[in-house]
Amino acid sequence: MLRLSLAAPLGPGGRLRPVPSAGALHPVRAHLLLGPGCSLPPGRYTYDPRTHRAHRRGPAADRVPPGALVVLTVAASRTVAHYGHRAWPLLLLDAGHAAASLALAGATTAGVLVSLDADGSLLSAAAGLPEAPDWQRTWPGTEPELPLAAVRLTPRGGPCETEPPLGAWAALPRASAPTPQPGADTTPPRELAAARHLLHHIAEAPGRPGGTWHPASRPGEVTDEALETRRSAPPDDLKRPPASEPLAQILATARSVRPGGPSWTVAVGGAEPALYAAAPGGPGLDVRAVGDARPTLAHWAAGQQWIATSGAVLLAHGCPANASRATVRGSHLVAGYAAGTAQAHAAALGLRSRPIGSWQQADLGAALGDTPGRDWIVHGLALGAPPTTPATPATSAPTPATPPTASAAPAAPSGEEERP
Ligand SMILES: Cc1cc2nc3c(=O)[nH]c(=O)nc-3n(C[C@H](O)[C@H](O)[C@H](O)COP(=O)(O)O)c2cc1C
Repeated sequence: MLRLSLAAPLGPGGRLRPVPSAGALHPVRAHLLLGPGCSLPPGRYTYDPRTHRAHRRGPAADRVPPGALVVLTVAASRTVAHYGHRAWPLLLLDAGHAAASLALAGATTAGVLVSLDADGSLLSAAAGLPEAPDWQRTWPGTEPELPLAAVRLTPRGGPCETEPPLGAWAALPRASAPTPQPGADTTPPRELAAARHLLHHIAEAPGRPGGTWHPASRPGEVTDEALETRRSAPPDDLKRPPASEPLAQILATARSVRPGGPSWTVAVGGAEPALYAAAPGGPGLDVRAVGDARPTLAHWAAGQQWIATSGAVLLAHGCPANASRATVRGSHLVAGYAAGTAQAHAAALGLRSRPIGSWQQADLGAALGDTPGRDWIVHGLALGAPPTTPATPATSAPTPATPPTASAAPAAPSGEEERP
């Protein structure tokens, strides 16, 4: 499962992983809490994706049920060094993508439950980690990690208790410390301290510390090979609009993998550019607005010009300006989780794709004439038709709805390319 999701065994610098990551910086760490019935003896482990090895950090909790709990944390320093104050949403999105990757990898051989809202303190304790504010005092010379999500993998046919045993793991003493790294305990720059503080704060969920858990499954077409060979396509390979049927399938996947997340819309180029939502009560696409939104999207996505000529862009939006911390956390994690599943599905259908983060002032609701500040874009996935299939119009004759959204777009500044 780890080989199909988080491993980086190929290529220099560990860039080629089944899971994507903003700037290929891969800030997500996986802590394995193994009960009986796994391919390693029970205990706490840290997973090293570069060597594809699990390092034992302590014993297992007593009487934990069969299967594995994986606590996903983020180490923020490299993403903050690269993206500054825009890093924290990307860290949440990356954690969502990692949860999706692990859940998809496990879903054919294990029962999978995913939680994106468990209390950060409980997750830290379960994984045997100090909480971020105490980290550098407790484990000097090592980088603080912020826990954001957890995945439960249960052997098929075995007992699948409703409440994953986070509490039993959290009752254990702290696990052994990682090896100190040079420079990891210098005073963090202001932006790094702020990002850590924010992620620690929004992961607090004292009202329901155990979180809510949802089953994960794989879209039928997604094979192990599709997971392993998934790549983000170069922008030049994303120019042709996908046909309406696969587009509707991917939109349906993004909407359905997880309740309570953001809304989903797709902006399509081609002969009849428009914004589409899922057709109510059935498969297919419904016109939300006629016109070419892609230049505006390029501007909002830190001026990445290639977006203006991409075939289609799947958009996760919601998260009002006055959202609670739970909504901010949830909408970004679910957006990453669902876009990760959608990207795997796109790969399996032969479409090319590339996630898009770094949205700035991307008020989709206001652009469509709704109240400003209520409907921000939090994530995107650019999609292109397969290289050998002739391009097909995204849909037949859309009914005009609202005027084009892009016409008011200011000229986009020269692009800030996310690819390293
Ligand atoms: C949350 C997230 C945001 C991303 N944002 C962008 C982006 O704005 N522009 C871009 O060109 N690529 C973006 N990417 C794609 C990464 O650059 C890509 O995943 C990374 O280079 C690794 O390549 P791979 O996906 O082929 O493994 C994003 C990826 C993720 C997971």
